[in-house]
Amino acid sequence: MYEQHLIRRIEAFPLAEFVTMARECGRLEIDATLRADAARLYELIRGFRADVSFMSEEAAAMLDLAERFLYGEWFIAEHGFANYPSYIGLAMVKCALGVHLRDDFRRGWEKCKTCMHILLNDLLSYEVSSLAGIFPWYPDHRMESVMRNRIAALNDLRTSLAAPSQGAVPIVSSGILSWSQYAEKGREHLALRHLTALPVSCEHDEYFFMRVLQMSECCFWGALSAVIAAIEATKFDCLEEAMAHMEQALEFLDFLQPITQVLKTMPPEHFWAFRDATDGSSAIQSRWFHLLHIYLHGLDERKVSIYADIPEISDLIHYGKPGFVSLRSLLRDFAPHATPELETFAEIASRLDASLYAYRCIHLGIVHRFLPPDAKQGTGGTSGIPYLRKHLTRRLWPLESEYPQPDLEELNALDIFQPLVGVGN
Ligand code: HEM
Repeated sequence: MYEQHLIRRIEAFPLAEFVTMARECGRLEIDATLRADAARLYELIRGFRADVSFMSEEAAAMLDLAERFLYGEWFIAEHGFANYPSYIGLAMVKCALGVHLRDDFRRGWEKCKTCMHILLNDLLSYEVSSLAGIFPWYPDHRMESVMRNRIAALNDLRTSLAAPSQGAVPIVSSGILSWSQYAEKGREHLALRHLTALPVSCEHDEYFFMRVLQMSECCFWGALSAVIAAIEATKFDCLEEAMAHMEQALEFLDFLQPITQVLKTMPPEHFWAFRDATDGSSAIQSRWFHLLHIYLHGLDERKVSIYADIPEISDLIHYGKPGFVSLRSLLRDFAPHATPELETFAEIASRLDASLYAYRCIHLGIVHRFLPPDAKQGTGGTSGIPYLRKHLTRRLWPLESEYPQPDLEELNALDIFQPLVGVGN
């Protein structure tokens, strides 16, 4: 298929109609023909991009945007459910974060903060507009007291985020633009606001829940990339730089806690009302969360069988191979050479570890509050609460006590090292 032909096919896809239908009645109620068209178009784009490597910059940008947006529909058509990355539109979030670019780390963290700001502002605007009665979508279980409490909590959160590099977002949501407008350079953030968070139900709180998940992913990404930058800096003996990066990671992790706490403004019944519709999607499929732990602690043998059963993360088992440098292995190497600088490094690492531990505790508290009384397990195929408890107390210290390492021969025998296909994962 020629480039121009494919571009015309994309332009002919009624994006505004698709998004408006998703807003009016939930993603799963969008006209079946339109959804099938979306899945087919995704396949065409993928096929074309696999075959053709040279195209105009504008065409490449539009194809990339469309592929990211349509991935979710393709995934649902293919598997019959939305997994976590397609549920939260992670491919689009990644585009706004610039994960695919080989940017300087620091620019990446600025982008990450901007994205968090945009998502937070959008959520606040959603609640305020709903409370004012000027937001027409997702009417189920829309409760005034819930919205008021949430607006207060979100406002507090906003004050704790540093000023964004982009301007504030208007409180009333704007109309849907065209593919080419979203694909223009510098408009990634409009796409983030308008084309992500497409709930599967009409529950008011599901949109809120999706935005919390997306903000958490931004924190995971920010913290993960900062920890990687710190580890890399130590390889060049740049300890001061490494410590600055660890402080940056800490900033992202510290923000995770209040974001998760805002979930407490959701009555459990509101969560139960849309939980079944999200079956197949669990944040246990979050690569960045697991990678963050792997970069801190190394691969934990007790999680190998869990990873192996989850296609979205099964390839992470690669990190169990020798030679991988985690923060823990670094600290162990540093231990015999105590200097004041290395002690400060270890002190920051311990704050990082404590913050992540606190997050796991808060998450467990949230899970206790929200899992339906009859839930026998989580939606990620684990035992749910017992699984989370088992991994709750995983800490960096004492350094000498190794976490059980996976058996290398067994690892090599596993035939699961291919990551899940598609731009969305
Ligand atoms: C109503 C709120 C929530 C409930 C009831 C809940 C429930 C659960 C459960 C039961 C698990 C165990 C895995 C499984 O599903 O089988 C889990 C894991 C997980 N959840 Fe949540 N969760 C909630 C909110 C969140 C949020 C907002 C995030 C942020 C992204 C999140 C991130 C995670 C992660 C990363 C894991 C994997 C933990 C690990 O493997 O150690 N959860 N959650």
